[in-house]
Amino acid sequence: MLSVDLSRAASFLPLPYEEVLRPRLVRAGAQLQHGGGPGDDFIGWVRLPETYDREEFARIEAAAARIRADSKALVVIGIGGSYLGARGVIECLGSPNYNLLKKDTPNVYFIGNGLSAAALREVLALVEDVDFSVNVISKSGTTTEPAVAFRFFRALLEKKYGRAGAAKRIYATTDRARGALKGLADAEGYETFAVPDDVGGRYSVLTAVGLLPIAVAGIDLRALMAGAEEMMLRCRTEEFTNPAWQYAAIRSELYRHGKKIELLACFEPSFRFMAEWWKQLYGESEGKEGRGLFPASVDFTADLHSMGQYIQQGERHLLETVVRFAPDAEQPRVPFDEADGDGLNFLAGRTLAEINTQAMDGTLLAHVEGGVPNVVIRTGPRDAHTLGGLIYFFEYACGLSGYLLGVNPFDQPGVEAYKKNMFALLGKPGYEALGEHLRRKLEETPSAF
Ligand code: PA5
Repeated sequence: MLSVDLSRAASFLPLPYEEVLRPRLVRAGAQLQHGGGPGDDFIGWVRLPETYDREEFARIEAAAARIRADSKALVVIGIGGSYLGARGVIECLGSPNYNLLKKDTPNVYFIGNGLSAAALREVLALVEDVDFSVNVISKSGTTTEPAVAFRFFRALLEKKYGRAGAAKRIYATTDRARGALKGLADAEGYETFAVPDDVGGRYSVLTAVGLLPIAVAGIDLRALMAGAEEMMLRCRTEEFTNPAWQYAAIRSELYRHGKKIELLACFEPSFRFMAEWWKQLYGESEGKEGRGLFPASVDFTADLHSMGQYIQQGERHLLETVVRFAPDAEQPRVPFDEADGDGLNFLAGRTLAEINTQAMDGTLLAHVEGGVPNVVIRTGPRDAHTLGGLIYFFEYACGLSGYLLGVNPFDQPGVEAYKKNMFALLGKPGYEALGEHLRRKLEETPSAF
């Protein structure tokens, strides 16, 4: 069961803070549960683990089974909240090398999460000669990066299977009624899945947005949702036994006391994309109005040999949150070597988990000693149930954190700035005046390209 250990973090604060924060946490919790806070038209995710649409869930499972039967690859097209959660879960539970493993589930390729020609060409080449399907995901249905990628993959599917055949291999996850993607899907007869109106992109991994690709990779959706539901019930508690209260409160206090950057660390490299998901969740939810912890991530022990130096001795504006999974059941033991040329026989017979645990404890002591508060999140084994719980825990704590900070944790007005500029520079109709203005600015400081 997930627990939050604050013993190496609370001592960095001058005074106990729980009682001072309690009324604000009660209020923030009530706003998440019942509305009344900023952005409360986007709190549908709070009850999702119990209220999710069972009919759609069954269609997701059926579509995943169909894709597993007729495709060697699934191309998942999406960006931000329409991308990171699915990749995070598949890599965390499958492996970062999922596509290279021997398995009876299709490879899953993610694209439309940028504008790199090389990345696009590569995935096109990877699926050109195999049977594949596409899951195009965009809540708004108008995001440029996935829309551009979808044109290419739709064209490839139509070339391979004809227009009607392609339509049977395209699954669109988008708004129930609005947006260009919904219009296209209806016109072409693609199977569609809905992103609920009241669930924003970065809180949508437990909707069809995340669930379809996750199911195609063979991950147990029911266990994922059950883990989330269990956590949902724990997060309703209005006490400091609530792990989301503990986490939201300590990070809020540490921020107030000068810790401006939060590093999410894990000693499992397969967690890397879950950390990317977490960064979007917290960065977009809190980083506004000149406020918010900057979310960063490190992958241990690898990054102890790069970022470790800064963490130990750089500017003391860091707090570290470490996710610790229970060890995997299968544990290789270090082999004994008669010659002991590498001097490693003191480890012979010990499991990797034993060594990793000492690395975790050693790192914790060193970083705390170096002035970095450590919040330790202990979880169960790396499985779907644990991950469902962890996802919900982070989402709920994020909602609470945003309200404690006094911002709307469910909007992302800052994301629009680059989009407007890009549209204007590309000559999108309606953006002519801004385009002119930006081009003049660029002429004053010519682009390096
Ligand atoms: O959290 C968010 O809302 C955003 O990051 C979106 O997920 C991202 O911009 C993609 O949007 P869409 O799903 O509308 O294509």
